[in-house]
Amino acid sequence: MTTNFVWLDGQLVDGETARVSPFDHGLLVGDGVFETLRVYGGRPFAWRRHLERLVHSASGLGLVAPGHDELRGACEAVLEANALTEARLRITVTGGVAPLGSERGDHSPTVLVAAAAVTPAPDVTAVAISPWPRNERGATAGLKTTSYAENVRALAYARVQGATEAVFENTRHELCEATGSNVFVVTGDVVRTPPASSGCLLGVTRALVLELCPTLGLAAEEVELPIGALVDGADEAFLTSTVREVQAITAVTDWNHRYTEAPGPVTRRLATAFTALVARDIDEGCDQALAQVEVGEPQVDRDPPLLLFFQAVGIYAGQGAHEGALPVVDMTGRADDQGAHDRPHALGRRRTA
Ligand SMILES: Cc1ncc(COP(=O)(O)O)c(C=O)c1O
Repeated sequence: MTTNFVWLDGQLVDGETARVSPFDHGLLVGDGVFETLRVYGGRPFAWRRHLERLVHSASGLGLVAPGHDELRGACEAVLEANALTEARLRITVTGGVAPLGSERGDHSPTVLVAAAAVTPAPDVTAVAISPWPRNERGATAGLKTTSYAENVRALAYARVQGATEAVFENTRHELCEATGSNVFVVTGDVVRTPPASSGCLLGVTRALVLELCPTLGLAAEEVELPIGALVDGADEAFLTSTVREVQAITAVTDWNHRYTEAPGPVTRRLATAFTALVARDIDEGCDQALAQVEVGEPQVDRDPPLLLFFQAVGIYAGQGAHEGALPVVDMTGRADDQGAHDRPHALGRRRTA
Protein backbone atom coordinates (compact mmCIF):
# COMPACT_ATOMS: atom_id res chain seq x y z
CA MET A 1 0.00 0.00 0.00
CA THR A 2 1.27 3.49 -0.83
CA THR A 3 2.24 5.51 2.19
CA ASN A 4 -0.38 8.10 2.97
CA PHE A 5 0.97 10.94 5.04
CA VAL A 6 -1.39 12.78 7.32
CA TRP A 7 -1.01 15.85 9.51
CA LEU A 8 -1.73 15.02 13.13
CA ASP A 9 -1.43 17.52 15.96
CA GLY A 10 1.25 19.67 14.44
CA GLN A 11 3.30 17.24 12.40
CA LEU A 12 3.35 15.21 9.25
CA VAL A 13 3.19 11.51 10.08
CA ASP A 14 2.84 8.22 8.23
CA GLY A 15 -0.87 7.40 8.05
CA GLU A 16 -0.08 3.73 8.68
CA THR A 17 1.39 4.41 12.09
CA ALA A 18 -0.34 7.67 13.11
CA ARG A 19 -2.02 7.34 16.48
CA VAL A 20 -5.13 9.05 17.80
CA SER A 21 -5.89 8.39 21.47
CA PRO A 22 -8.52 5.72 22.24
CA PHE A 23 -9.92 8.38 24.57
CA ASP A 24 -10.41 10.96 21.82
CA HIS A 25 -13.87 12.52 22.16
CA GLY A 26 -14.28 12.57 18.39
CA LEU A 27 -13.86 8.80 18.28
CA LEU A 28 -15.94 8.08 21.36
CA VAL A 29 -18.94 10.38 20.97
CA GLY A 30 -18.59 12.11 17.59
CA ASP A 31 -17.53 15.37 19.24
CA GLY A 32 -15.80 17.09 16.35
CA VAL A 33 -16.15 19.13 13.18
CA PHE A 34 -14.71 18.75 9.73
CA GLU A 35 -14.38 20.17 6.26
CA THR A 36 -13.95 18.40 2.95
CA LEU A 37 -12.26 20.48 0.27
CA ARG A 38 -11.70 19.59 -3.36
CA VAL A 39 -8.17 20.02 -4.67
CA TYR A 40 -7.86 20.88 -8.36
CA GLY A 41 -4.42 21.06 -9.94
CA GLY A 42 -2.83 20.94 -6.50
CA ARG A 43 -4.84 23.88 -5.09
CA PRO A 44 -7.60 23.60 -2.52
CA PHE A 45 -10.72 25.16 -4.07
CA ALA A 46 -12.72 27.83 -2.19
CA TRP A 47 -10.31 27.70 0.72
CA ARG A 48 -11.56 30.82 2.49
CA ARG A 49 -15.19 29.71 2.46
CA HIS A 50 -14.33 26.27 3.84
CA LEU A 51 -12.18 27.79 6.56
CA GLU A 52 -14.97 30.15 7.56
CA ARG A 53 -17.39 27.27 7.80
CA LEU A 54 -14.94 25.24 9.87
CA VAL A 55 -14.68 28.12 12.33
CA HIS A 56 -18.48 28.41 12.37
CA SER A 57 -18.99 24.68 12.98
CA ALA A 58 -16.30 24.64 15.68
CA SER A 59 -17.81 27.58 17.52
CA GLY A 60 -21.24 25.92 17.27
CA LEU A 61 -19.80 23.00 19.26
CA GLY A 62 -17.74 25.23 21.56
CA LEU A 63 -14.45 24.13 19.96
CA VAL A 64 -11.66 26.38 18.76
CA ALA A 65 -10.43 25.70 15.23
CA PRO A 66 -6.72 26.17 14.52
CA GLY A 67 -5.69 29.38 12.77
CA HIS A 68 -5.60 29.88 9.01
CA ASP A 69 -1.82 29.75 8.62
CA GLU A 70 -1.46 26.55 10.59
CA LEU A 71 -4.19 24.80 8.61
CA ARG A 72 -3.02 26.05 5.25
CA GLY A 73 0.50 24.87 6.02
CA ALA A 74 -0.81 21.48 7.16
CA CYS A 75 -2.92 21.06 4.02
CA GLU A 76 -0.07 21.98 1.71
CA ALA A 77 2.29 19.63 3.53
CA VAL A 78 -0.16 16.73 3.19
CA LEU A 79 -0.77 17.36 -0.51
CA GLU A 80 2.93 17.64 -1.21
CA ALA A 81 3.92 14.59 0.82
CA ASN A 82 1.36 12.46 -1.00
CA ALA A 83 2.03 14.08 -4.40
CA LEU A 84 -1.69 14.72 -4.86
CA THR A 85 -3.11 17.17 -7.39
CA GLU A 86 -6.70 15.93 -7.88
CA ALA A 87 -7.85 15.08 -4.40
CA ARG A 88 -10.29 15.44 -1.58
CA LEU A 89 -8.75 17.03 1.45
CA ARG A 90 -10.24 16.58 4.87
CA ILE A 91 -9.64 18.71 7.94
CA THR A 92 -10.98 17.22 11.19
CA VAL A 93 -10.94 18.94 14.57
CA THR A 94 -12.21 16.96 17.55
CA GLY A 95 -12.78 17.67 21.23
CA GLY A 96 -9.53 15.84 21.98
CA VAL A 97 -8.81 13.45 24.85
CA ALA A 98 -11.70 13.38 27.31
CA PRO A 99 -13.40 11.26 29.99
CA LEU A 100 -15.45 8.36 28.65
CA GLY A 101 -18.84 10.12 28.84
CA SER A 102 -20.32 13.08 26.98
CA GLU A 103 -18.45 15.64 29.06
CA ARG A 104 -15.44 17.17 27.35
CA GLY A 105 -11.99 17.02 28.93
CA ASP A 106 -9.51 19.86 29.25
CA HIS A 107 -7.08 18.62 26.59
CA SER A 108 -6.49 20.60 23.43
CA PRO A 109 -8.43 19.62 20.29
CA THR A 110 -7.10 16.89 18.02
CA VAL A 111 -6.32 18.27 14.56
CA LEU A 112 -6.08 15.87 11.65
CA VAL A 113 -5.58 16.63 7.94
CA ALA A 114 -5.79 13.78 5.45
CA ALA A 115 -6.12 13.57 1.68
CA ALA A 116 -6.98 10.99 -0.95
CA ALA A 117 -7.00 10.96 -4.73
CA VAL A 118 -10.39 11.57 -6.28
CA THR A 119 -11.92 11.31 -9.72
CA PRO A 120 -14.80 13.49 -10.94
CA ALA A 121 -18.28 12.34 -9.89
CA PRO A 122 -20.70 11.16 -12.61
CA ASP A 123 -22.92 13.89 -14.14
CA VAL A 124 -26.12 12.19 -13.00
CA THR A 125 -27.43 10.05 -10.18
CA ALA A 126 -30.61 8.67 -8.65
CA VAL A 127 -31.68 9.61 -5.12
CA ALA A 128 -33.77 7.89 -2.47
CA ILE A 129 -35.86 9.55 0.23
CA SER A 130 -34.49 8.96 3.71
CA PRO A 131 -37.05 7.27 5.96
CA TRP A 132 -35.61 9.30 8.85
CA PRO A 133 -36.04 13.10 9.10
CA ARG A 134 -33.42 15.78 9.72
CA ASN A 135 -34.08 17.66 12.96
CA GLU A 136 -33.89 21.30 11.93
CA ARG A 137 -34.11 22.31 15.60
CA GLY A 138 -31.26 20.09 16.81
CA ALA A 139 -28.15 21.53 18.44
CA THR A 140 -25.96 20.51 15.50
CA ALA A 141 -28.32 21.47 12.65
CA GLY A 142 -26.35 23.32 10.01
CA LEU A 143 -22.98 22.42 11.53
CA LYS A 144 -20.54 20.10 9.79
CA THR A 145 -19.88 17.78 12.70
CA THR A 146 -18.30 14.34 12.81
CA SER A 147 -21.59 12.98 14.18
CA TYR A 148 -22.60 11.64 10.77
CA ALA A 149 -24.07 8.28 11.80
CA GLU A 150 -27.54 9.39 10.62
CA ASN A 151 -26.03 10.15 7.23
CA VAL A 152 -24.25 6.81 7.14
CA ARG A 153 -27.52 5.02 7.87
CA ALA A 154 -29.53 6.98 5.30
CA LEU A 155 -26.85 6.52 2.63
CA ALA A 156 -26.83 2.76 3.20
CA TYR A 157 -30.61 2.85 2.74
CA ALA A 158 -30.17 4.74 -0.55
CA ARG A 159 -27.69 2.15 -1.81
CA VAL A 160 -30.23 -0.59 -1.24
CA GLN A 161 -32.69 1.43 -3.33
CA GLY A 162 -30.19 1.66 -6.17
CA ALA A 163 -29.44 5.33 -5.47
CA THR A 164 -26.20 7.06 -4.46
CA GLU A 165 -27.73 9.72 -2.23
CA ALA A 166 -30.59 10.02 0.25
CA VAL A 167 -32.65 13.19 0.54
CA PHE A 168 -33.94 14.22 3.97
CA GLU A 169 -37.16 15.99 4.81
CA ASN A 170 -37.12 17.85 8.13
CA THR A 171 -39.57 17.43 11.00
CA ARG A 172 -41.94 19.89 9.26
CA HIS A 173 -41.98 17.68 6.12
CA GLU A 174 -39.99 20.25 4.20
CA LEU A 175 -37.23 19.49 1.73
CA CYS A 176 -33.95 19.81 3.64
CA GLU A 177 -30.76 18.37 2.13
CA ALA A 178 -29.11 15.05 1.33
CA THR A 179 -26.56 13.10 3.37
CA GLY A 180 -23.56 14.86 1.85
CA SER A 181 -25.03 17.39 -0.55
CA ASN A 182 -27.58 20.16 -0.97
CA VAL A 183 -30.68 19.83 -3.13
CA PHE A 184 -31.98 22.20 -5.81
CA VAL A 185 -35.18 22.07 -7.86
CA VAL A 186 -35.69 23.88 -11.15
CA THR A 187 -38.96 25.15 -12.59
CA GLY A 188 -38.54 27.05 -15.83
CA ASP A 189 -35.82 29.62 -15.18
CA VAL A 190 -36.27 29.58 -11.41
CA VAL A 191 -33.79 27.65 -9.28
CA ARG A 192 -34.86 26.92 -5.70
CA THR A 193 -33.12 25.45 -2.71
CA PRO A 194 -34.11 25.17 0.97
CA PRO A 195 -32.91 27.93 3.34
CA ALA A 196 -30.85 27.49 6.53
CA SER A 197 -34.07 27.32 8.56
CA SER A 198 -34.76 23.92 6.93
CA GLY A 199 -31.83 22.55 8.95
CA CYS A 200 -29.54 22.05 5.98
CA LEU A 201 -25.82 22.63 5.98
CA LEU A 202 -25.04 25.77 4.02
CA GLY A 203 -22.86 24.12 1.41
CA VAL A 204 -20.01 25.99 -0.20
CA THR A 205 -21.06 24.66 -3.62
CA ARG A 206 -24.66 25.64 -2.88
CA ALA A 207 -23.56 29.22 -2.18
CA LEU A 208 -21.51 29.39 -5.37
CA VAL A 209 -24.37 28.02 -7.46
CA LEU A 210 -26.76 30.60 -5.96
CA GLU A 211 -24.26 33.29 -6.91
CA LEU A 212 -23.84 31.89 -10.41
CA CYS A 213 -27.58 31.84 -11.17
CA PRO A 214 -28.04 35.56 -11.84
CA THR A 215 -24.96 35.62 -14.07
CA LEU A 216 -26.81 33.10 -16.26
CA GLY A 217 -30.11 34.96 -16.19
CA LEU A 218 -31.64 32.50 -13.75
CA ALA A 219 -33.65 33.51 -10.67
CA ALA A 220 -32.29 31.95 -7.47
CA GLU A 221 -34.50 31.48 -4.44
CA GLU A 222 -33.80 30.16 -0.97
CA VAL A 223 -37.24 29.12 0.07
CA GLU A 224 -39.00 26.60 2.29
CA LEU A 225 -40.43 23.84 0.12
CA PRO A 226 -42.57 20.81 0.94
CA ILE A 227 -40.65 17.56 0.42
CA GLY A 228 -42.97 16.80 -2.52
CA ALA A 229 -41.54 19.81 -4.38
CA LEU A 230 -38.60 17.59 -5.23
CA VAL A 231 -40.81 16.22 -7.98
CA ASP A 232 -44.07 18.24 -8.07
CA GLY A 233 -43.66 21.03 -10.59
CA ALA A 234 -39.93 20.34 -10.88
CA ASP A 235 -38.61 20.21 -14.44
CA GLU A 236 -35.17 19.34 -13.12
CA ALA A 237 -33.46 18.67 -9.82
CA PHE A 238 -29.81 18.51 -8.90
CA LEU A 239 -27.39 18.00 -6.02
CA THR A 240 -24.43 20.17 -5.13
CA SER A 241 -21.39 19.33 -3.06
CA THR A 242 -17.67 19.73 -3.00
CA VAL A 243 -17.18 16.23 -4.38
CA ARG A 244 -20.29 15.91 -6.59
CA GLU A 245 -20.06 19.53 -7.84
CA VAL A 246 -23.35 20.03 -9.77
CA GLN A 247 -24.92 16.63 -10.30
CA ALA A 248 -28.28 16.11 -12.00
CA ILE A 249 -30.87 13.87 -10.36
CA THR A 250 -32.28 11.34 -12.81
CA ALA A 251 -34.85 9.69 -10.55
CA VAL A 252 -36.33 9.54 -7.05
CA THR A 253 -36.39 5.81 -6.46
CA ASP A 254 -38.87 5.62 -3.56
CA TRP A 255 -41.44 7.59 -5.51
CA ASN A 256 -40.86 5.91 -8.87
CA HIS A 257 -40.25 9.30 -10.38
CA ARG A 258 -37.99 9.96 -13.36
CA TYR A 259 -37.23 13.48 -14.54
CA THR A 260 -37.94 14.06 -18.22
CA GLU A 261 -34.36 15.10 -18.89
CA ALA A 262 -31.28 14.71 -16.71
CA PRO A 263 -29.21 16.70 -16.86
CA GLY A 264 -31.81 19.19 -18.04
CA PRO A 265 -30.81 22.45 -19.74
CA VAL A 266 -30.60 24.56 -16.56
CA THR A 267 -28.58 21.97 -14.66
CA ARG A 268 -26.24 21.66 -17.65
CA ARG A 269 -25.65 25.41 -17.77
CA LEU A 270 -24.96 25.59 -14.05
CA ALA A 271 -22.63 22.59 -14.20
CA THR A 272 -20.70 24.22 -17.05
CA ALA A 273 -20.54 27.54 -15.22
CA PHE A 274 -19.32 25.81 -12.08
CA THR A 275 -16.58 24.01 -14.01
CA ALA A 276 -15.52 27.36 -15.45
CA LEU A 277 -15.43 28.83 -11.93
CA VAL A 278 -13.21 25.98 -10.77
CA ALA A 279 -10.77 26.83 -13.54
CA ARG A 280 -10.26 30.17 -11.86
CA ASP A 281 -8.82 30.82 -8.45
CA ILE A 282 -11.93 32.09 -6.74
CA ASP A 283 -10.07 33.01 -3.58
CA GLU A 284 -8.16 35.60 -5.51
CA GLY A 285 -10.82 36.68 -7.97
CA CYS A 286 -14.47 36.20 -7.21
CA ASP A 287 -14.09 36.45 -3.46
CA GLN A 288 -12.30 39.77 -3.67
CA ALA A 289 -15.15 41.07 -5.78
CA LEU A 290 -17.66 39.81 -3.25
CA ALA A 291 -15.76 41.44 -0.40
CA GLN A 292 -15.91 44.78 -2.22
CA VAL A 293 -19.65 44.49 -2.59
CA GLU A 294 -20.03 43.57 1.06
CA VAL A 295 -18.27 46.62 2.39
CA GLY A 296 -20.45 48.74 0.18
CA GLU A 297 -17.84 50.07 -2.19
CA PRO A 298 -19.47 51.83 -5.11
CA GLN A 299 -19.46 49.63 -8.20
CA VAL A 300 -19.61 52.43 -10.76
CA ASP A 301 -17.71 52.07 -14.02
CA ARG A 302 -16.24 48.77 -13.05
CA ASP A 303 -17.33 45.23 -13.72
CA PRO A 304 -16.49 42.83 -10.94
CA PRO A 305 -14.01 40.08 -11.77
CA LEU A 306 -16.61 37.31 -11.62
CA LEU A 307 -18.84 39.06 -14.13
CA LEU A 308 -15.91 39.91 -16.40
CA PHE A 309 -14.86 36.34 -16.20
CA PHE A 310 -18.22 35.01 -17.38
CA GLN A 311 -18.39 37.56 -20.13
CA ALA A 312 -14.94 36.45 -21.23
CA VAL A 313 -15.88 32.79 -21.39
CA GLY A 314 -19.16 33.64 -23.09
CA ILE A 315 -21.64 32.18 -20.64
CA TYR A 316 -23.02 35.42 -19.27
CA ALA A 317 -26.66 35.76 -20.26
CA GLY A 318 -26.86 39.50 -19.78
CA GLN A 319 -29.77 39.30 -17.36
CA GLY A 320 -29.83 39.49 -13.63
CA ALA A 321 -26.54 41.35 -13.32
CA HIS A 322 -27.07 45.04 -13.12
CA GLU A 323 -24.97 48.14 -13.59
CA GLY A 324 -21.70 46.51 -12.85
CA ALA A 325 -22.69 45.22 -9.46
CA LEU A 326 -22.64 41.53 -8.72
CA PRO A 327 -26.14 40.17 -8.44
CA VAL A 328 -27.10 40.10 -4.80
CA VAL A 329 -28.25 36.89 -3.24
CA ASP A 330 -29.40 36.85 0.35
CA MET A 331 -27.50 33.99 1.86
CA THR A 332 -27.45 35.17 5.41
CA GLY A 333 -29.22 31.98 6.42
CA ARG A 334 -30.87 34.07 9.10
CA ALA A 335 -33.29 31.94 11.02
CA ASP A 336 -34.57 33.39 14.25
CA ASP A 337 -35.79 30.11 15.67
CA GLN A 338 -32.54 28.27 15.40
CA GLY A 339 -31.67 27.79 19.04
CA ALA A 340 -28.53 28.58 20.93
CA HIS A 341 -25.76 28.98 18.41
CA ASP A 342 -25.58 31.72 15.89
CA ARG A 343 -26.38 29.82 12.70
CA PRO A 344 -25.81 32.57 10.18
CA HIS A 345 -22.17 32.66 9.27
CA ALA A 346 -19.75 34.01 6.83
CA LEU A 347 -20.85 31.78 3.97
CA GLY A 348 -23.89 33.91 3.65
CA ARG A 349 -22.40 37.29 4.22
CA ARG A 350 -23.97 38.98 1.21
CA ARG A 351 -27.11 40.79 2.11
CA THR A 352 -29.82 42.30 -0.01
CA ALA A 353 -29.31 46.01 -0.10
C1 LIG B 1 -24.89 17.24 5.16
C2 LIG B 1 -24.24 17.98 4.03
N1 LIG B 1 -24.96 18.87 3.31
C3 LIG B 1 -24.42 19.53 2.27
C4 LIG B 1 -23.10 19.33 1.90
C5 LIG B 1 -22.53 20.09 0.73
O1 LIG B 1 -21.60 21.06 1.17
P1 LIG B 1 -20.37 21.53 0.29
O2 LIG B 1 -20.93 22.07 -0.98
O3 LIG B 1 -19.73 22.58 1.11
O4 LIG B 1 -19.51 20.35 0.07
C6 LIG B 1 -22.31 18.44 2.63
C7 LIG B 1 -20.91 18.23 2.26
O5 LIG B 1 -20.28 17.29 2.62
C8 LIG B 1 -22.89 17.75 3.72
O6 LIG B 1 -22.17 16.89 4.45
